[in-house]
Amino acid sequence: MERDDAIRTYKARRRVTDGQAEAITRLLPRFGSDVPFGRDAPLVLEIGSGMGEATAAMAAADPARDVLAVEVHTPGVGALLRRLEDQGLSNVRVTEADGLDVLRAQAPGSLDEVRVFFPDPWPKARHHKRRLTTPAFADLVADRLKVGGRLHLATDWLSYAEQARAVVAACRLLEVVSTERGRRPVTRFEQQGLCAGRQPHDLVAVRTAPPRTGEA
Ligand SMILES: C[S@@+](CC[C@H](N)C(=O)[O-])C[C@H]1O[C@@H](n2cnc3c(N)ncnc32)[C@H](O)[C@@H]1O
Repeated sequence: MERDDAIRTYKARRRVTDGQAEAITRLLPRFGSDVPFGRDAPLVLEIGSGMGEATAAMAAADPARDVLAVEVHTPGVGALLRRLEDQGLSNVRVTEADGLDVLRAQAPGSLDEVRVFFPDPWPKARHHKRRLTTPAFADLVADRLKVGGRLHLATDWLSYAEQARAVVAACRLLEVVSTERGRRPVTRFEQQGLCAGRQPHDLVAVRTAPPRTGEA
């Protein structure tokens, strides 16, 4: 199912605490997306980093790669900024934006990985049009990934996992290589789902090289 660009994949924002507002004012000049990483390292784009626990943990465990975390939820941005400061992480940048806009703004073939961990599930059928993973999304991800780069999706809604798998499998330039979680830590949203009896479903796809002329 295609999604009209005017249809958002996220819900209305929640109130920001004074502490989160303070962290944003003080720390965005240090960790905002317009601050250069100061090195040439593989770049991971995470869409919907939530409160940032998994983002920070994965960045700490993977210091050779840089991470651009995108989140529309202001409290999550503040929480992640605080984590970066507390943990002394220098390989993460954060932006409060729509991840689709940020993905579109990346150069073709520039990303090492795109992560989408537990996107808003939109479980009601009439809301499925709000889900992030559409054929256009898969094509966009494939275009922005370098050859050999990965898309890692995880959701604990079976219908979303099935839809995402069908969409990714139909994308000419993505090849599903795994349904293992790998080293991905348990995210906050995932933990809530586990407590409610939901199981995570991971999907990892690799950006393939386009077929050479005459092979298609
Ligand atoms: C269910 S939460 C999961 C958060 C986190 N990844 C986790 O697993 O704990 C989904 C998050 O994606 C964010 N989100 C939804 N659509 C987005 C978009 N288009 N761009 C950036 N963030 C988005 C929401 O604000 C929310 O924080």
